[in-house]
Amino acid sequence: MSKGHSKHAERAADSAAARLPGIDEVGPGGLGPTGRPLPEFPEPVALRSHGPARIIAMCNQKGGVGKTTTTINLGAALAEVGRKVLLVDFDPQGALSVGLGIPTHNLDVTIYNLLIGRGHDIRDVIEPTRVPGLDVVPANIDLSAAEVQLVGEVAREQILSRVLRPVADDYDVILIDCQPSLGLLTVNALTAAHGVIIPLECEFFAMRGVALLVETIEKITDRLNPRLQVDGILATMYDGRTLHSREVVRSVVDHFGEQVFHTVISRTVKFPDATLAAEPITSYAATHSGAQAYRQLARELIARGLAA
Ligand SMILES: Nc1ncnc2c1ncn2[C@@H]1O[C@H](COP(=O)(O)OP(=O)(O)OP(=O)(O)O)[C@@H](O)[C@H]1O
Ligand SMILES: [Mg+2]
Repeated sequence: MSKGHSKHAERAADSAAARLPGIDEVGPGGLGPTGRPLPEFPEPVALRSHGPARIIAMCNQKGGVGKTTTTINLGAALAEVGRKVLLVDFDPQGALSVGLGIPTHNLDVTIYNLLIGRGHDIRDVIEPTRVPGLDVVPANIDLSAAEVQLVGEVAREQILSRVLRPVADDYDVILIDCQPSLGLLTVNALTAAHGVIIPLECEFFAMRGVALLVETIEKITDRLNPRLQVDGILATMYDGRTLHSREVVRSVVDHFGEQVFHTVISRTVKFPDATLAAEPITSYAATHSGAQAYRQLARELIARGLAA
């Protein structure tokens, strides 16, 4: 680090509290909301061809931390830079499908049929979204039966991996939106994945349960899927105006270090608004800081070599 740069960082640290309110207010070289100097993430280069996909599971057994919101909006942001993206709704609540405008109740085939029955082609289940380059495998409440039905299957942890294989070469990134549990469906997602993104809400007890999640990931790395790694921890619902939010992010960085994404996602009502409109924020409110944050996350993911 150059002398000038470290001086700059010092000055930034002095006024960190004043500067933290949002990523858009932090200049390159200054400290970002995670308390570390915020790098610039370059504009991704265009891809000439697509695939094979890197598969990422969005996972935290705690509910309501931003898994689905991140899956939709990171997916849309990656598609915006020309990546071919498949989203997999792996939660019987079907929030991902609904959030993309897919009416789930009257679907004949969903991810459930792919898991349970043989003879279904994933290509017949994949639905396009209104975002070019962004497709989805929908789910609905049928999926809630799968957990029990799969228990007696041979290689029951590898079923999703097998389901995704025929289209893995067609996409650059596959994002799996997990349900808030560490049950067999989530184990299937982690067994199919190359990486895990763990969204953490900037709230009291954000870290509660993360040790168990990390332990589960380690077990799966040992026993089922040696390529699996934690891609990153994503701080969500951040409010830079509160000391509390900043303290939560600091403690997460103290614990996980460089695994914490520099990008943090602020709390804003635009996210639930976009969900109601059944659109990603990148199209619902294209210039909003929430949309910019997910674009930055997409660039950071690519810069870290975690997506093509
Ligand atoms: N950054 C944010 N700011 C404000 N609200 C948010 C933000 N991210 C998500 N939300 C809202 O919080 C709620 C929970 O988010 P989301 O559904 O993405 O979490 P989840 O982890 O997928 O939940 P579940 O565990 O139930 O699947 C939703 O109503 C969503 O619109
Ligand atoms: Mg969800």
